[in-house]
Amino acid sequence: MNHPTSILITNIGELVTHDPELGTFAGAALVVDGGTVAWIGPTAQAPAADEAFDAEGRAVIPGFVDSHSHLVFAGDRAGEFQARMAGESYGAGGIRTTVAATRAAPDDELAAGVARHVAEMRRQGTTTVEIKSGYGLTVDDEARSLRIARGFTDETTFLGAHVVPPEYADDPAGYVELVTGPMLAAAAPYARWIDVFCETGAFEVDQARAILRAGEAAGLGGRLHANQLGPGPGVQLAAELGLVAVDHCTHLTDDDVHALRDAGTVATLLPGVEFSTRQPYPDARRLIDAGVTVALASDCNPGSCFTSSLPFCIALAVREMGMTPAEAVWAATAGGARALGRTDVGVLTPGNRADLVLLDAPSHVHLAYRPGVPLVARTWTASSA
Ligand code: NIG
Ligand code: FE
Repeated sequence: MNHPTSILITNIGELVTHDPELGTFAGAALVVDGGTVAWIGPTAQAPAADEAFDAEGRAVIPGFVDSHSHLVFAGDRAGEFQARMAGESYGAGGIRTTVAATRAAPDDELAAGVARHVAEMRRQGTTTVEIKSGYGLTVDDEARSLRIARGFTDETTFLGAHVVPPEYADDPAGYVELVTGPMLAAAAPYARWIDVFCETGAFEVDQARAILRAGEAAGLGGRLHANQLGPGPGVQLAAELGLVAVDHCTHLTDDDVHALRDAGTVATLLPGVEFSTRQPYPDARRLIDAGVTVALASDCNPGSCFTSSLPFCIALAVREMGMTPAEAVWAATAGGARALGRTDVGVLTPGNRADLVLLDAPSHVHLAYRPGVPLVARTWTASSA
């Protein structure tokens, strides 16, 4: 896309850059040129640009980087949510309900659903999103899920190992062979990442290791769902394989925490899941104090958590998980970027993508202080600037 004009944004009441040199400062200005951040400094010293925008004292933060979502699906599971709120517990098996609906849906219906949810995310300040497959679970349905997701983002993840589908109920080993063989071959052209749901009722740690190794051999980066429903070996596997991120991390031992720190693996916390499954929240404070890098993501999916809102996740992380507002905003932007191995987003610094959010508020603190309030006044992205 062409970017013929430069834009000067002045009178930023609080600019959150996440650049260690620039930090967070008042009275800031920022120039966007050609879809990238061209200049940051005090409003009084701002250079001229083709267009001007007055932020009128409001805050600007990097666009949210949502590193974990499952947007390619049909149907919903509102009934399952209602039952949970009445006392039922969440189990991995509900995934199969969405698999049946997704297999039966035509491509255009699936694509329209992704478009709707990506637009919903954008209205709430998300400018980078990762999208997983995982509700197809056949060679063709996984490949088409990823092909559809690719129409919206380059951050696509092959999750053929979400659960064992009903037709392989008696032959889980045969399903792992399918995932690591023909399904991986069909999915890899449309995927950057490979993921496994390593949990009781989904995949064992040895199956997860085999699937992640096969993905790596096919050129995909590994990531993992682990330690969501109870303690388990998944987090240690993520550290052993040096994965960029392991997601959920709700139930961790001290050894798990130390392994994450030593491996430099990002712990991606998904507090919307604990909210929507009525489970205890992960302890972000413990992870941060131990030196683990923490990201926050939505996990938007029709089963365990149907929110697309990172502001909501930030509010939960501050209220329930011991994070400061600044840590939570960092985790939902720069942290999400780390979890995707990206340095061009999540941090506002000259040369980075101009993905930024103007808040209808004087400070980032309001994202947690004013939960449920639509505070995103507008977004600029590298492709729309
Ligand atoms: O991240 N944990 C596995 N997958 C999703 C849930 C999917 C579903 O319940 O449909 C998650 O929570
Ligand atoms: Fe998930």
